[in-house]
Amino acid sequence: MWNNNKICNLLNIKYPIIQGGMVYNSGAVLVAAVSEAGGLGLLGSGSMRPEELRSAIGEVRSMTDKPFGVNLPLLFKQAGESLEVALEEDVKIFFTSAGSPKRVANKLKEAGCTLVHVVASPALAVKCEDAGCDAIVCEGFEAGGHNGREELTSLVLTQLCVDAVSIPVISAGGIATGSQMAAMIALGASGVQIGSRFAVTEESSGHLNYKQAVVDGTDTQLVLKKHIPVRLLQNKFRDMITEAELGGADRQKLEQILGTGRARSGMFDGDVVEGELEIGQVAAQIKDIPKVAEVFNRLITDYCEAVKRLGA
Ligand SMILES: Cc1cc2nc3c(=O)[nH]c(=O)nc-3n(C[C@H](O)[C@H](O)[C@H](O)COP(=O)(O)O)c2cc1C
Repeated sequence: MWNNNKICNLLNIKYPIIQGGMVYNSGAVLVAAVSEAGGLGLLGSGSMRPEELRSAIGEVRSMTDKPFGVNLPLLFKQAGESLEVALEEDVKIFFTSAGSPKRVANKLKEAGCTLVHVVASPALAVKCEDAGCDAIVCEGFEAGGHNGREELTSLVLTQLCVDAVSIPVISAGGIATGSQMAAMIALGASGVQIGSRFAVTEESSGHLNYKQAVVDGTDTQLVLKKHIPVRLLQNKFRDMITEAELGGADRQKLEQILGTGRARSGMFDGDVVEGELEIGQVAAQIKDIPKVAEVFNRLITDYCEAVKRLGA
């Protein structure tokens, strides 16, 4: 079915399904499970010290011999060091985000790596193509985690990007079922990147309290839009931020409320009241904590049914 798929061929995977890099969630166990299931797992280096990334790479290799990659948020202060570590460990696939891929494109190309960058606008997609990226991920407003300021939804963004570039487009944001995946493929995307659905699986390194909060909750909102936009599940912390923003709090005040380590305490340590719970709009569709293999079964079965419906 996917023999001629550009993303499967580029990344040497069975299904054009990428597990997005996710701070505190995409550790070695999740990555290996996704790659074993036929997708591409990405280590979330944003929440790892460089030496932790080195051991995570080794752990993945001890669990699977299938392809996997590293997500590198370029604005994070350890990005340069993490990149060196990943290259030393012979990682060949990089998904960069939050910054300009120009900074790393030459180095990665010289090392024979595949480079994919995450964008939130067609203008940035064109810049990625010019910089030599092999593909782009276009991530819409629905997505979990940090988000662009453009507010383009996946349905619009995907179409715009497919029309704007000739490299393959991977659609992200708001995809948790095979039907949603089929919609993006119908728009011309060559694959999908999924975050939230994989964050709430047995293999994700997120805390069980966080996963259960997503199962129990439905309401997400993009907050800190003038600062660093991030989509969060409703809890006391998000209410505090929303109230401060509505009250006209400036950047300094917001940073003071945010403090440090909120994302870790919410998603990794399980403080679901005062911590930051990053998740996408598909939280409303997430009703259980299955194994990764089961998520793949559901995605592929539902995708085939959706395609059949279209045919009929
Ligand atoms: C908990 C969480 C953490 C995330 N962390 C990162 C990250 O470190 N780097 C990154 O590029 N994207 C990050 N993302 C975005 C995902 O890689 C992916 O693009 C997004 O989740 C897709 O949208 P979805 O949540 O609707 O599936 C994160 C998403 C979530 C839900």
